[in-house]
Amino acid sequence: DGNLSAILVIFGGTGDLTHRKLMPALYNLVLDGLLPEQFSIVSVGRRDKTEEEYRSEIHEAIQKHSRNKVDDKLWEKLNKMIHYYRFDFTNLEGFTALNEYLDRLDETAHTGGNRVFYLAVAPEYFETIVQGLQQSNMGKKKDAWSRLIIEKPFGKDLKTARQLNNKLLEVFDESSIYRIDHYLGKEMIQNIMVLRFCNSIFESIWNNKFIDNIQISLTEKLGVGTRGGYYEHSGAMRDMLQNHIMQILSMVAMEPPVNLKTDSIRTEKQKVIEAIEEITPEFLRDNVVFGQYGKGVIDGTPVVGYREEENVPANSNTETFVALKLHINNFRWAGTPFYIRTGKRMGTKSAEIVVQFKDLPNILYFKDRNIQEPNLLVLRIQPSVGVFFQFNTKNFSTHNDIVATKMDTSYESPTQGNTPEAYERLIYDILRGDATLFSRWDEVEAAWSVADQIIKYREQKKVNFPNYDSGSMGPVRAFELLAKDGRKWWNV
Ligand code: BG6
Repeated sequence: DGNLSAILVIFGGTGDLTHRKLMPALYNLVLDGLLPEQFSIVSVGRRDKTEEEYRSEIHEAIQKHSRNKVDDKLWEKLNKMIHYYRFDFTNLEGFTALNEYLDRLDETAHTGGNRVFYLAVAPEYFETIVQGLQQSNMGKKKDAWSRLIIEKPFGKDLKTARQLNNKLLEVFDESSIYRIDHYLGKEMIQNIMVLRFCNSIFESIWNNKFIDNIQISLTEKLGVGTRGGYYEHSGAMRDMLQNHIMQILSMVAMEPPVNLKTDSIRTEKQKVIEAIEEITPEFLRDNVVFGQYGKGVIDGTPVVGYREEENVPANSNTETFVALKLHINNFRWAGTPFYIRTGKRMGTKSAEIVVQFKDLPNILYFKDRNIQEPNLLVLRIQPSVGVFFQFNTKNFSTHNDIVATKMDTSYESPTQGNTPEAYERLIYDILRGDATLFSRWDEVEAAWSVADQIIKYREQKKVNFPNYDSGSMGPVRAFELLAKDGRKWWNV
């Protein structure tokens, strides 16, 4: 673990991510006593403001977005660490001055030369900033560490992701690059490995002999809001499938790693993405459904369709929903399909993994009724967090009625609950130098190879959009996708 003292430099210090996530997470770290005394935060922004103005803006943001009530004493601790550095980072010469500023700050803050560079900016600036860090020799340091945190999107396809990665590697070692996927910061995602590898009752049946299918469903009520400009070129596939869904899939399906070291885990995750069966256009014709929301009603309030959103063209063909069947070609999973679904403006906000076990033969109890409620194991990621398990028992009656018993250990979270916000855990891990919850380049690469094939198919295909109402559960065809296999989306 070593020394956590460092200067955290946030590019995009006046942006949304910094206000809504990073600063509240840093406050929570102070609250939990996890930030070292020798720690500084330098927010880089283009706008002209004094340090005092910036600090009070952050104070407000934390009050608004932190799940915890802001304590004056603790805020004061954080307040003192925060600095505002005005600088237009497209001006590469400015990096030398920034470097000198950071070195001077080291002296007063006793931060020992360690650096974390957080790129909380639009992706078109990633390379520029890294270039600036390179020119001023801020990437690799003697006697101190220097780490880079990069938000998604990591490229817009395999090719651009490779270009970006090559640029990063000129300046930072792979082991110093932290590619953020905030889903990996969620409690239940981290719990997947524990559930699988700490319970004999699960791991021994975690395969195609016992599991009928696995469903990964991430649905949102939100629309694109003010992010139309970004989303229009991203769509559900780049926004959710290439990253969050591929990460979840890899954790659910990977082989047990040989130990818990970062790279052992990442190697297994990479391998399983690599094992996804080739996705040909022929396969996709029957096994993928794209959707785009039309107008509708969310929680009783009428909302506009995607094409009416700000910065979205009226004839947009961007998908806001995708449902897909995938096969993993290895000994554990051959024959067990994975169904994936994600979409915006849907009837529920929920993220879940449903594991449906195979039915028993209909010989004894299920003979006449011919209906058998399957065993289901549901990992609830949000808004509830925890595990749901369904199994059959005899009803309390004189008849031998079989009923599905639903055991639910999940609880309401994350706002009322006690679950640490995703960024809190992730920032702490970066300071400790633990990259387990970040994706390694070859995982990103494998995920892009999958996503690219679907995106290419999508771009050549004409779909009649919009094809689902806001507030619904997506296009009808997404239900048919499972129905034709004799299955259904579980919503238990
Ligand atoms: C982000 C996407 O990565 O994840 C957003 O860019 C999406 O479009 C968000 O809304 C969902 O995250 P969460 O944590 O709310 O499920």
